[in-house]
Amino acid sequence: MDISYREVMPLDLPVLVSMERTLFSDAPWSMGQFKEEFSGIPKTRYFVVALDSDKQIVGYAGVMVVASGVDADVLTVAVLPEARRRGIARHFMDSLEKWSSMRVAPSMMLEVGVNNSSAIALYESIGYLIINTRKNYYGPGLDAHVMKKVLS
Ligand SMILES: CC(C)(COP(=O)(O)OP(=O)(O)OC[C@H]1O[C@@H](n2cnc3c(N)ncnc32)[C@H](O)[C@@H]1OP(=O)(O)O)[C@@H](O)C(=O)NCCC(=O)NCCS
Repeated sequence: MDISYREVMPLDLPVLVSMERTLFSDAPWSMGQFKEEFSGIPKTRYFVVALDSDKQIVGYAGVMVVASGVDADVLTVAVLPEARRRGIARHFMDSLEKWSSMRVAPSMMLEVGVNNSSAIALYESIGYLIINTRKNYYGPGLDAHVMKKVLS
């Protein structure tokens, strides 16, 4: 699979909403939520998509830095099952970190479900550390780890 990357475009919205329903069926972002996040582009939000050789979106990721010098919050990272384990998410995280560095963010922060072993393995492989665990973060009984990476 030949993968390319670009920043998100408004035209991508329907595809992302549909992917979101498949990948995050418990609490998918709605079209309205995506639009609200995208309204922060380019000042406080950065979103990137991955395309396969047919130029179909196979993944997306986004980050928020609300003001220069403030920690970055990773908002979402998602890759379709058929495109996984090809380094797409690692590439996404690298892009999000580069953009956040340009916004002078001291650290990257994110929340991840305590049972989401693939995502935790991804983040640990690129230097994120678990700094806290939030009880019931995603709903009753659904705890989340807070992970952090200091940007150099
Ligand atoms: C987590 C997710 C984004 C990873 O995407 P990906 O493109 O497959 O990840 P990469 O190929 O970049 O993997 C990078 C590294 O992460 C780790 N990793 C990723 N998936 C893994 C898995 N299933 N098991 C173990 N380690 C894994 C590995 O260290 C991997 O490096 P390697 O392939 O050289 O061993 C993807 O599985 C996904 O979309 N999951 C559903 C949505 C989700 O949970 N998002 C995160 C919300 S916090």
